[in-house]
Amino acid sequence: MTARVELVGLATAHRFAAGDDLATALLDAVASAGLELRDGDVVCVASKVVSLVEDALHPLPAGDPKDARRRLARDLAVRVVADTPGVLVVETPHGFVCANGGIDASNVPGDDVALLLPDDPDASADRLRRAIGERTGRRVGVIVTDTFGRPWRLGQTEVALGVAGTPALRDERGGTDLQGRTLEVTVAAIADEVAAAADLVRTKASGTPFVLVRGLPGGAAGTGRDLLRPAASDAFRAGGPTVAEHAVTSRRTIRRFLPEPVDHGVIEAAVRAATTAPAPHHARPWRFVRLTPPTRGRLLDAMAAQWRTDLAADGTDPAVIERRIARSDAVLRDAPELLAPFVVLDAAHDYPDTRRTIAERDLFMLSGGAALQNLQVVLAAHGLGTAWISSTAFCAPTVRDVLGLEPTWQPLGMLAVGHPAGQPPAREPADVADLLLER
Ligand SMILES: Cc1cc2nc3c(=O)[nH]c(=O)nc-3n(C[C@H](O)[C@H](O)[C@H](O)COP(=O)(O)O)c2cc1C
Repeated sequence: MTARVELVGLATAHRFAAGDDLATALLDAVASAGLELRDGDVVCVASKVVSLVEDALHPLPAGDPKDARRRLARDLAVRVVADTPGVLVVETPHGFVCANGGIDASNVPGDDVALLLPDDPDASADRLRRAIGERTGRRVGVIVTDTFGRPWRLGQTEVALGVAGTPALRDERGGTDLQGRTLEVTVAAIADEVAAAADLVRTKASGTPFVLVRGLPGGAAGTGRDLLRPAASDAFRAGGPTVAEHAVTSRRTIRRFLPEPVDHGVIEAAVRAATTAPAPHHARPWRFVRLTPPTRGRLLDAMAAQWRTDLAADGTDPAVIERRIARSDAVLRDAPELLAPFVVLDAAHDYPDTRRTIAERDLFMLSGGAALQNLQVVLAAHGLGTAWISSTAFCAPTVRDVLGLEPTWQPLGMLAVGHPAGQPPAREPADVADLLLER
């Protein structure tokens, strides 16, 4: 079989505006190229001119236009996929995932407006297909295309936003390869491939909104929607700087847990993540003791006894003492898992004076904090809640004694871990202006 496809760029001097008849502009461009449409032809049309004739303009918020476009893209998006200084990738209400929500600023009438993607690119494609049919009697396919960047690969390509009268996907699953093996995953995104091929015969500045594609095999007509991957099969939904940022900022302290066991594999993954925390002198000063039930009871009893002694020596009312212990117990006694985190000071440098000795110890302890944060964030990413409770830090000798640890082990508190019984509300970030200073 010899397959041959022909691509003809159809340039036009027409400057598109709201209300223009797209079919007329297209048929004029076809005639100017000395051609006539035939049954089976596919016309690729740039979404830009579709948006212009459909008047898909939107006022930009006030301020710097570039910044305003980003804000508008965020406002109109259903999901922010990645928000970095270099690029904002969002999911549009249509389901397209693209930079700046496909919001366009070039060739728009005025600085205070932006051009959005067509409202319903499949409907736009179908309107043009039907208008061509009425005017010429020809059965053609139409693909509304736009330029999208791609993760993992440099350079942009055209993709099919709207499709009418031509296939979107070619499903080869269930067929066989040359060796007779059954194809299990092959579904060719042919509308995207046609859209990308159309860009071979034009550049952005060539004034070529239409490309005629002749010689494509036919098949059942599809739509642009057929090309949208359902969220459930999107293995890459979680990824990129925005997700890392979200993982950190969405972690909340959880103090009540469901009575479900915690997967030990997840705890190990979280401890592995903890051990990537920064630490002084390339040390690995963190330790985590997973408390088994008998040890947990003994440790909590011993810590409560020490706490009672401390609070009584402070002159605290006995009823208040018991209330405070009960509040702490409410989190720790029934938590599905208890991890006792420590920092060991073996690798800390010795200094002859107190100032530097304390600084060195503080730095090791800070590394423990970083490790615990890693641990909590990774547990949260696996749907587990944590409460970091100070307890052990106030009775280090008792803890070391019950667990049989060396004096260089510094307890960092206790971490209760479990499946959350509820989710606290999302937290408003603090105003960094008050916290990030310049001197
Ligand atoms: C070093 C440290 C000790 C903490 N000790 C306790 C504690 O003893 N009891 C408690 O309920 N929460 C404790 N917390 C949790 C804080 O109360 C909690 O982080 C804070 O309320 C903010 O809530 P968030 O973690 O949801 O952002 C501790 C947190 C840290 C970092």
